Amino acid sequence: MTQSSAQDNRLAADTLLVREYLAEVPHKPEPDPTENQRYRDAIKALLKERNATLVAHYYTDPEIQALAEETGGMVSDSLEMARFGRDCDADVLVVAGVRFMGETASILSPDKTVLMPTTAATCSLDIACPIDKFSAFCDQHPDRVVVVYANTSAAVKARADWVVTSSIALDVVEHLQDQGKKILWAPDRHLGHYIQHKTGADMILWDAACIVHEEFKAKGLMDMKALYPDAKVLAHPESPSSVLAMADVIGSTSQLIKAAVELPEQTFIVATDQGIFYKMQQQAPDKTLIVAPTAGNDASCRSCASCPWMGMNSLQAMYESLRDGSNRIQVDRDLAARAMVPLQRMLDFSQQRQLAVKGKA
Ligand code: 13P
Ligand code: SF4
Repeated sequence: MTQSSAQDNRLAADTLLVREYLAEVPHKPEPDPTENQRYRDAIKALLKERNATLVAHYYTDPEIQALAEETGGMVSDSLEMARFGRDCDADVLVVAGVRFMGETASILSPDKTVLMPTTAATCSLDIACPIDKFSAFCDQHPDRVVVVYANTSAAVKARADWVVTSSIALDVVEHLQDQGKKILWAPDRHLGHYIQHKTGADMILWDAACIVHEEFKAKGLMDMKALYPDAKVLAHPESPSSVLAMADVIGSTSQLIKAAVELPEQTFIVATDQGIFYKMQQQAPDKTLIVAPTAGNDASCRSCASCPWMGMNSLQAMYESLRDGSNRIQVDRDLAARAMVPLQRMLDFSQQRQLAVKGKA
């Protein structure tokens, strides 16, 4: 079998795997405002009673983000979620996001109880990077530093030298490149290509993608730019390179929000999950935000700028989890200890960088 047909087969198998998962994602009923209010009140009471804190990702429903804000919790990107969960003094962390975020919280805070509204909320990147295949891939390249994206299982993290999120990936790879290191990157190929392109680092890439960002199409974006010639394009680096080539700002969720606030332009076309619009509009109320098109010649939108797994976080599920202590995330202690090493490396690196930036100011 040639290398490219082996790669095609792997991609087809990954796509099938993701489709099977998606077929099981339940359809979310329309929210009933009265019922939602009841859940909100009950969750607030339970958060207090259990000394619990709600930590939500920017892609979750606006009602969940608003609840995290109102109750003194946190709404953020995946890096800040990890930090906040570790540093806050709650006994219980309620993590609204996808499974790897709950696992990361559990690894970093072994003495806290970590609950999730649903443990079925996974991620196409996590699914497409199973530990057995990944470990074999690493074994074939013992001369490379293994850098994995946070959107992976605890077992994949435990096999890595570094864990990174999108807000710090570029800095970490630059740092490793300065040391003359060769890199094995997994699992997101678009983010990997982007970093490789920006740094010129010697990287080999695992071949997986985010089903949400994969759907953004350059052709549709070009048409939209023609319609809004003054708009700036903000894109998450999980988007395809043809889309990134047209972006004015490429960054993690929090970096894109910052750009919408700080740039002088009035209109932004945003290529990431639509959940981000809640916070972006809150921080930049006078700006016009438009979701980047997923339509194009070869589009078959399975997600339409909306992560199906993030969408599984509902108020009802959160209430039930808090009430019953169900959907608890517990990473095996030995595995957690091993996954902690590359995670801690990322957090230490990010802290050092922040101090360095502050020092320069
Ligand atoms: P951030 O690290 O930018 O929050 O992204 C997480 C994610 O899942 C993007 O799809
Ligand atoms: Fe994973 Fe993509 Fe969903 Fe982020 S948006 S959690 S990368 S499937």
